[in-house]
Amino acid sequence: MRQLRDLHEARGRRAQGRLLLEGTHLLQEALRLGLRPELVLATPLWLERHADLLQGLPAGVRLQPASAEVLDAAASTRHPDGVLATLPLPDAELAPAGALVGAAGPGDFVLALDRLQDPGNLGTLLRTALAAGVTRVWLAEGADPFQPKVLRASSGAALALPLERLEAAELRRRLQGLGGAMQLVATVVRGGQPFWELDWRRPTVLLLGNEGAGLADDLAALAQHRVTIPHSPAVESLNVAVAAAPLLLERWRQQLAPPSAERRSP
Ligand SMILES: C[S@@+](CC[C@H](N)C(=O)[O-])C[C@H]1O[C@@H](n2cnc3c(N)ncnc32)[C@H](O)[C@@H]1O
Repeated sequence: MRQLRDLHEARGRRAQGRLLLEGTHLLQEALRLGLRPELVLATPLWLERHADLLQGLPAGVRLQPASAEVLDAAASTRHPDGVLATLPLPDAELAPAGALVGAAGPGDFVLALDRLQDPGNLGTLLRTALAAGVTRVWLAEGADPFQPKVLRASSGAALALPLERLEAAELRRRLQGLGGAMQLVATVVRGGQPFWELDWRRPTVLLLGNEGAGLADDLAALAQHRVTIPHSPAVESLNVAVAAAPLLLERWRQQLAPPSAERRSP
């Protein structure tokens, strides 16, 4: 029980090298992605109702029946829906910093997040990133993507995307090292070119900023392009996860319907 509860915190996840999945949906997503839980803890009622899911469990997964009270005590949510599971931390979390630099390919689309704090924002954003075909995510400090709130808000997308957590200084080094291999696009709440004018089909690193402070000036200064989602002056800015949706999906849209040559940026 103590080990399970320790997985609510980043320190416990790091120490054990595993994360906690709460609820049927996240377990289904993990199995769909071919991930292998170590332990599945479930109430007798849940076990009775999910025979099909149990049949899909890889061999060797430890199945532990438990009372609803035990699940309540182990979960971070108030009322888990009858199942908890543990999973080894995905590999990208353990990848050595810099391992992916230089591997930019023609289809690469990197989302780089500067100190995103709110787990709900991060989870929502990761879900959209997966829908938009993002190929990797660089997380400079900020919220831990494997905490229960992020996993829930991302609907499992945090497990599907190659995520790397970096120090802010390491993100800066990486962006400086991109050279001409990828276009670096900074998002600014005003004064940038309208986002739809950019050619998003090129290999791209998209930079989004912190909820309060926005994008760090030194990171924004490295970008070849600064884009804005124009909106009414009635609000100062958009929520970062809301802003991410049109930006991330514009690449998808342009692949279906390229912008006309005269409106496209160089
Ligand atoms: C809540 S905003 C930060 C507001 C901060 N006071 C500022 O001035 O940058 C968080 C992030 O969402 C993105 N964002 C919000 N509104 C945007 C807009 N209208 N256009 C482009 N990006 C936007 C940017 O990445 C921004 O750094």
